Amino acid sequence: MSRLLVTGGAGFIGSNFVHHVIAHTDHTVTVLDKLTYAGNEASLAGLPEDRVRLVVGDIADAAVVDPLVAEADAVVHYAAESHNDNSLHDPRPFLDTNIIGTYTLLEAARRYDVRFHHISTDEVYGDLELDDPARFTESTPYNPSSPYSSTKAGSDLLVRAWVRSFGVRATISNCSNNYGPYQHVEKFIPRQITNVLRGIRPKLYGTGENVRDWIHADDHSSAVLTILDKGEIGETYLIGADGEKDNKSVVELILQITGNPTDAYDLVTDRPGHDLRYAIDSTKLRTELGWKPTYGDFESGLAATIDWYRENEAWWAPTKDGVEAFYASKGQ
Ligand code: NAD
Ligand code: DAU
Repeated sequence: MSRLLVTGGAGFIGSNFVHHVIAHTDHTVTVLDKLTYAGNEASLAGLPEDRVRLVVGDIADAAVVDPLVAEADAVVHYAAESHNDNSLHDPRPFLDTNIIGTYTLLEAARRYDVRFHHISTDEVYGDLELDDPARFTESTPYNPSSPYSSTKAGSDLLVRAWVRSFGVRATISNCSNNYGPYQHVEKFIPRQITNVLRGIRPKLYGTGENVRDWIHADDHSSAVLTILDKGEIGETYLIGADGEKDNKSVVELILQITGNPTDAYDLVTDRPGHDLRYAIDSTKLRTELGWKPTYGDFESGLAATIDWYRENEAWWAPTKDGVEAFYASKGQ
């Protein structure tokens, strides 16, 4: 049994990880989360109080971070400003949380010699051409495009430096696009699902041809537990589930599953600097650590996600109007 400190555990992927840990291990979890607009205590509802504790605080605040890291067996670091569109509007919080926050946690991990796992993104590698058969691997050069992805790239490099210079026992994972329950309605899939549930037409940026490589958040969680358990210190592992889809196909699938005409969407203003395509080659994680995804069928995972948003309107409704007003102000 281990004591995990999970930063950002009230966000989308962090809360999915906490649910996964409680269901599949006997670890206890302390969540450290600032509860920004993206964090929601309700995402942790129903978890056993004797195994899950929420501390509300900032990962960039050493006075909060230090005692929590000191008492942990491992830190799993999810907390971040995570949305590309927000980073184009106001980059500063991305620097504060993704760079200074990660630095603050690394210093604490170094001080108390605590195992550290850093959650990162495939976006650090930039993008691929639509017709390029290549996929990202652990040796693809870093080439981030947005303020969000550049701060995540910076945080990855800090982790590597703290391993090499100070001997911090850290690993890194870079995952592709996640979907599943508890994702904020600002993101692509929940925005389109909740639009359809509200009778609003889905909004596709540009031509809708951009490709993302989808993985269910629960598969991301099992991969992270595998790396915590068997990963080699100092190594990076790419996490992906061979789920490449263009955005238009995803919207058409949401419309089809919900019984709507598949062309009932709008093309809207494109995202500046919009990355064309992401694709992950997760051979290293699969062959060296023996991980494999369990959600093989994107369509059924998406249908279950649609059901979750239909059944949990109280979770997302308070944020929906504000998100749509923000997008409308940008023609999106
Ligand atoms: P999210 O925005 O849903 O959640 C982020 C959480 O971090 C929120 O609960 C928020 O309150 C918290 N947080 C933000 N700033 C904080 C601070 N200064 N101190 C403490 N807590 C703070 O994000 P997500 O989509 O769940 O992403 C989680 C992690 O996974 C991020 O590091 C992201 O880069 C990475 N990631 C995301 C995806 C994806 O598809 N969403 C894919 C790969 C990697
Ligand atoms: O690849 C991993 C990354 O995936 C994570 O690091 C990020 O934290 C996460 O937000 C996600 O980034 P994206 O920018 O790919 O996700 P987003 O949900 O914002 O958009 C997915 C695609 O859908 C992208 O091509 C933009 C497009 N899009 C998005 C929205 C919100 C639309 O076409 N319409 C929309 O309304």
